[in-house]
Amino acid sequence: MSHTDEAQPRQIAIFDTSLRDGEQAPGFSMNTAQKLKLAHALRKLKVDVMEVGFAAASPGDAEAIHAIASEIGYLPDAPMLCSLSRAMEGDIVAAERALGPAKRSRLHLFFGTSDLHLAAKHRMEKPEALATIERAIRMAKGRFTEIEFSAEDALRTDPAFLKEALECAAAAGADVLNVPDTVGYTSPEEIYALFADLTANVARPDHVVFSTHNHNDLGMAVANSLAAVRGGAGQVECTINGIGERAGNCALEEVVMALKTRPDHYRATSGVETREIFAVSRLLGEVTGNAPPRNKAIVGRNAFAHEAGIHQHGVLADRRTYEIMSPEDIGLPSNALVLGKHSGKHALRARLEALGQGELGDNRFEKLYADFKRLADTRREVTDNDLCDLLAEDGRGH
Ligand code: KIV
Ligand code: ZN
Repeated sequence: MSHTDEAQPRQIAIFDTSLRDGEQAPGFSMNTAQKLKLAHALRKLKVDVMEVGFAAASPGDAEAIHAIASEIGYLPDAPMLCSLSRAMEGDIVAAERALGPAKRSRLHLFFGTSDLHLAAKHRMEKPEALATIERAIRMAKGRFTEIEFSAEDALRTDPAFLKEALECAAAAGADVLNVPDTVGYTSPEEIYALFADLTANVARPDHVVFSTHNHNDLGMAVANSLAAVRGGAGQVECTINGIGERAGNCALEEVVMALKTRPDHYRATSGVETREIFAVSRLLGEVTGNAPPRNKAIVGRNAFAHEAGIHQHGVLADRRTYEIMSPEDIGLPSNALVLGKHSGKHALRARLEALGQGELGDNRFEKLYADFKRLADTRREVTDNDLCDLLAEDGRGH
């Protein structure tokens, strides 16, 4: 690699699994029409890969994959469409049928490689596990554009066996090697070291990409994904609003905005159209009936809202004082200065100006400010309507 290449940030592929791992979580399942709506929004977001279901899981899932493949899979800018599959012929055939109409398709074949998964789920010794992985990938090769292999529970897998399993998958024809932290167990330091080791030492053809897939059981899915990127991962698997099994998956909007905000730190970027983030997040909330919490990073209602007087004063002077990203970058028209009991005179004046009431004399303004503070003590937020009422009452008193 030349010096100039090293200076260039790498472009990381964004693999969205909102419609598979995301909808697997209780309270988030979606029907075909709902998945189609989301799939259109994800295409506009320009994700690289869209995992749209698990074809063998149910006839409904297969139908949704087929509908998305038929409606979106042939469009010129369609992302790669993907179905999950166990290492079984029936699953591979179901995925092939469901993804049939897509121009570019990926089979995501997974197999638990930790001692726990080998014993409790597969009841297999390691050599039989390797043979099963190899057979399934060889069976699938050529029936899809690409094959991705996931060593489920990789972060609790014996590292020597993990390497063997990944090398076996690559030799059989896998194009992407995914190393999932299935139960959100790892730490940034640990996953960084693992990816640095795997990318340096696993024998595989040049085109093979390493992928990271992290769950949020200890609240570290995004930090772990970013650490894996620094360790050499070329693909991040994630979901809108971080939905997914148990505490969820790595949140797409967080990882993408971290890369956009700190490209020099992570030495990586993504091709995501970030101005679509807010729209997709809101659509997912509407479709599933689960809006993200107010304080959710990037897309929560408070992510670009300021109530405290000192912060409002700072943001009015120069918004970079308390904002590291622009709301416009995620598709929000502006930040919000919320008026409440912590707000000060600068914010009240700014809001009055926005309401066309900037010409109040000093005495009237001071009286209004006192009325506003009294009202703010009785409610969470003072709205524009409240201010208009205060102005009207004040006007009647004059
Ligand atoms: O968390 C996980 O291990 C998964 C695999 C199927 C990739 O979702
Ligand atoms: Zn998962």
